[in-house]
Amino acid sequence: MTHTNEKIYYIETYGCQMNVYDSELVSKMMEECGYKKGDDYRKADAIFLNTCSIREKAEETVHNRLENFQYLKKKNPSLLIGVLGCMAQNLKDDILDSKPYVDIILGPDSYRSIPKLLKDRTNKMNHLVDTKLSKYEIYDELFPSRNEGVNSWVSIMRGCDKFCTFCIVPFTRGRERSRPIDSIVNEIKHGVEEGFVEFTLLGQNVNSYNTPDGKFPELLDRVASIEGVKRLRFSSPHPQDVDDHMLEVMSSYDNICNHVHLPLQSGNDRILKRMNRSYTSNEFLILADKIKQYMPGCSITTDVIVGFPGETEEEFEDTLNVAKKVGFNFAFMFKYSSRPGTKASGYTDQIPEEIKQKRLERLIDVQLDNTLKQNKALVGKTIKVLVEKESKKSKEQWAGRTEGNMWVVFDKGSESVGDLIDVKIEDARGVTLFGINVNREYKYEVA
Ligand code: 5AD
Ligand code: SF4
Repeated sequence: MTHTNEKIYYIETYGCQMNVYDSELVSKMMEECGYKKGDDYRKADAIFLNTCSIREKAEETVHNRLENFQYLKKKNPSLLIGVLGCMAQNLKDDILDSKPYVDIILGPDSYRSIPKLLKDRTNKMNHLVDTKLSKYEIYDELFPSRNEGVNSWVSIMRGCDKFCTFCIVPFTRGRERSRPIDSIVNEIKHGVEEGFVEFTLLGQNVNSYNTPDGKFPELLDRVASIEGVKRLRFSSPHPQDVDDHMLEVMSSYDNICNHVHLPLQSGNDRILKRMNRSYTSNEFLILADKIKQYMPGCSITTDVIVGFPGETEEEFEDTLNVAKKVGFNFAFMFKYSSRPGTKASGYTDQIPEEIKQKRLERLIDVQLDNTLKQNKALVGKTIKVLVEKESKKSKEQWAGRTEGNMWVVFDKGSESVGDLIDVKIEDARGVTLFGINVNREYKYEVA
């Protein structure tokens, strides 16, 4: 609640990077409606939660958070509480029933209705629910209001048509649709003018990107040639759609990071088939090799699910073996979480929680070992690091990322945030690298 005329909005984002991007779109619309962003929800006139449905835990967190807001609404009945994103899509009835203090529920394709909704609200309205999914909405020509930092997220396609049997995304985000190349290029040029130096192209399956003007490799080519784009990343490709053309373009540009986030999900062929993942473990291994042939030293990171319905001990061990063979630089590892409405949630051979937990711990051990091995191999080498922010541990140090997306901590010198510098790696501990700015040393020598 504010006592000036200026209204404040507050937004909290859960889940994936696409949600971060979408929150920036919502911010833009709120600011165009005269609201200012605030970081204290207790002082806000409008509170939004941009939610995630990918696993049960993400949903629980949001339910708890919403309950916290209930008392604010009692104090200030004109407060607007909005649930956005995947849970809105998926759980609208549940939310309407159990949380009557939620005013608006908007699915991922309905954010354009926000300005009208704010206008109409002065005439006292009831709950507003809009969770229709669109075949067309790509939020074109709407420049997001960016969070600070060196990296800018750019959505290039929305939705997913793959229907992996564990995944709720095709239901919450709808069908695949791609944004025109020119519109993406415009947004990135705009981002460069705003001072961003790294751009991450986002989509549920970036390499299913398809427009009359070109597919994903053509898009990469166009974006990488924009002046001022110091680094280009993308997330995530589907192993099935990684082709030679994409790898050729990647290897021909210095500013496209030598990093592929390649979700494995499982290393066992029967489970992969049951997941509807359309590749075998062997095909995945061949692809990982091919990526390294095109880009020696390329970092490969992944997502893995343990305890998918029916997964036996041996099948789980196949996943451990593939993880060891590829030697992933980093992995996001999850216990399977049953999502009502997906095909796998109907499978009767669900795995008990304790077994999932044990498998997760074993996989984490293998992966920590992988990360440390890969990072130790960098000790003594000089690599490019983008200076991103102050290190959490010390004001005297910077933290930045390698092309492979690993964090490096090093002493501050004359470099600034956004600089791409040469860092000599001196140590690797946990998942972090430690180094020294090579040119900083040089400056001392001449001085
Ligand atoms: N349970 C656990 N993990 C899941 N993911 C997607 N759906 C589920 C689920 N039901 C993971 C996948 C995906 C990542 C974004 O989240 O590994 O790649
Ligand atoms: Fe989900 Fe599979 Fe689509 Fe990724 S490819 S969003 S895991 S259905």
